[in-house]
Amino acid sequence: MTLNPKLTQLLNEQINNEMSSSYVYLAMAAWFEQTPYMGFASWMFNQSREETMHALKFYQYVVDRDAVVVLQPIAQPKATFESPIDVFEHSLKQEQLVTQQINDLYDVAEQVKDHSSKNLLLWFLNEQIEEEKTVRDMLDRLRLAGTDPASLLVLDREAAQRQSPTGSGGHGGHGK
Ligand code: FEO
Repeated sequence: MTLNPKLTQLLNEQINNEMSSSYVYLAMAAWFEQTPYMGFASWMFNQSREETMHALKFYQYVVDRDAVVVLQPIAQPKATFESPIDVFEHSLKQEQLVTQQINDLYDVAEQVKDHSSKNLLLWFLNEQIEEEKTVRDMLDRLRLAGTDPASLLVLDREAAQRQSPTGSGGHGGHGK
C-alpha cells in the first residue's frame, strides 16, 4: 500500500519535530551544565538522545514504506532558563506539544485508513503518556523542594539515575 501523500508529508514533519525536540533538550542539558545540577544535565542529555531515536524511528518508517524522506531545517532552541522548575515546565509543554502532533497524525492515518501507520503512532502515543508522566512527577517534586538546596540536590541525584533509552551508559557527567 502506497503511503498517502498528506500522511507522508506529516510523517516527514514529525521527523523534524522530533529532531527539534532533541535540540530543545540538548539546550536544556547545556544550560544545566553551567549549574551544579549534573544529574539534571544528564537527564536532559539522555532525553535529547531519546528524541533523536524517535526521529530515526519515523525516518526508518518512511523509508520502509517506500516514500521519500525530506529533511527540513531545525529551529534554534531556547538556551536560557530561570531555574530547574522553569526547565521542567518547558519540558512538560514540549511533551504536550508532541502528544498533540502525534494525535493529529493519528487522525490523518485514520482518515486514510492506513492501519500500519496507526500501529506505529499508537506506539508513540503510549510513549507520550509515559514521557508526560515522568516529567510531571519530577515537576511535582521540584515544586515541593522549592528553593531548598538540600532537597534540590536529592532530586538532582535521582535524575542522574534515569537511564539512557539506548542503554549505552548515557552522559558522562564530568562535573565542575
Ligand atoms: Fe519524541 Fe518526547 O517525544
